[in-house]
Amino acid sequence: MTLLQLRKRTMTLAGTVLTVYLIFHMLTNLSFFSAPAFEHFYEVYNQAWIRWPVLALVLIALFIHVKAAVAIRIKNSQARQVGYKKHDKLHIPAPLVTLSIILLLIFILVHIGQTLMLDTSQVRQAMLDWFSSAWMLLFYLAGLVILAMHLLHSLVNVLQTLGVSSNMHRLSISAAVVILTAGFASVPVYIWMTA
Ligand code: HEM
Repeated sequence: MTLLQLRKRTMTLAGTVLTVYLIFHMLTNLSFFSAPAFEHFYEVYNQAWIRWPVLALVLIALFIHVKAAVAIRIKNSQARQVGYKKHDKLHIPAPLVTLSIILLLIFILVHIGQTLMLDTSQVRQAMLDWFSSAWMLLFYLAGLVILAMHLLHSLVNVLQTLGVSSNMHRLSISAAVVILTAGFASVPVYIWMTA
C-alpha cells in the first residue's frame, strides 16, 4: 500500500468515527423535545468518565482527519502541473471548498468552546439561552449547511472509491444527510420559534 493510500484510509476511518458521533449527537439532541429524557441523558453523559473520553475521541479523530486531508492536498497539488480551477463534478471552485472547510472547522471549535463553558447541570437551559438569539441560530444553521455539503461530497467520494456510484446510492446518501441536518436544525429552530 502506498503512503497516499494509507493516508486516504486513515482519513476515511477518522471521518467514519466523526460521522458515527454525529448520528449519536443528533439523536441525543432530539431528546430535547422531552425535557425529562434530555435531563436524564445529560445527567448520565456528563459524568467525567463518559464526557471527557468522548470529547477526546472526537478531537483526536478530527485532528487525524484534517491532518491526512491537508497532506493529501499538498501531495496532489505538487503532482499536478496545471492547477484545478474547479474542485469536482459539481463545479465548485477549489478556493471555495477550502474556505468552506476552514469555516466548518471554526464552527466545530467555537461550538466545542461554547459547550465547555456551560454549566453541565443546566444543559437544557443553556440551549434555551443560546437559541433565543437569532444570531446564534443563524451561526448554527450556517454551520449545519456547510457540514451537510461536506458530508454529501465526501460520502459520495467514499462510495466512488469503493466502486459504488449508482444514482440509488447517491440518493440514499443525500436522504441520510438531509435527515441528519434536519434533526440537528430542528432543536435550535424550535427554540427560536417558541422563545
Ligand atoms: C444544532 C446543532 C447542535 C446542538 C444544539 C448541539 C448541542 C450540544 C450540547 C448541548 C453539547 C454539550 C454536551 C455536554 O453537556 O457535555 C454539545 C457538545 C458537543 N457537540 Fe454539539 N450540538 C450541535 C451540533 C454539533 C455538530 C454539528 C457537531 C460536530 C460537527 C457537534 C460537536 C460537538 C462536540 C464535539 C461536543 C463535545 C463533546 C460532547 O460533550 O459530546 N455538535 N453539543
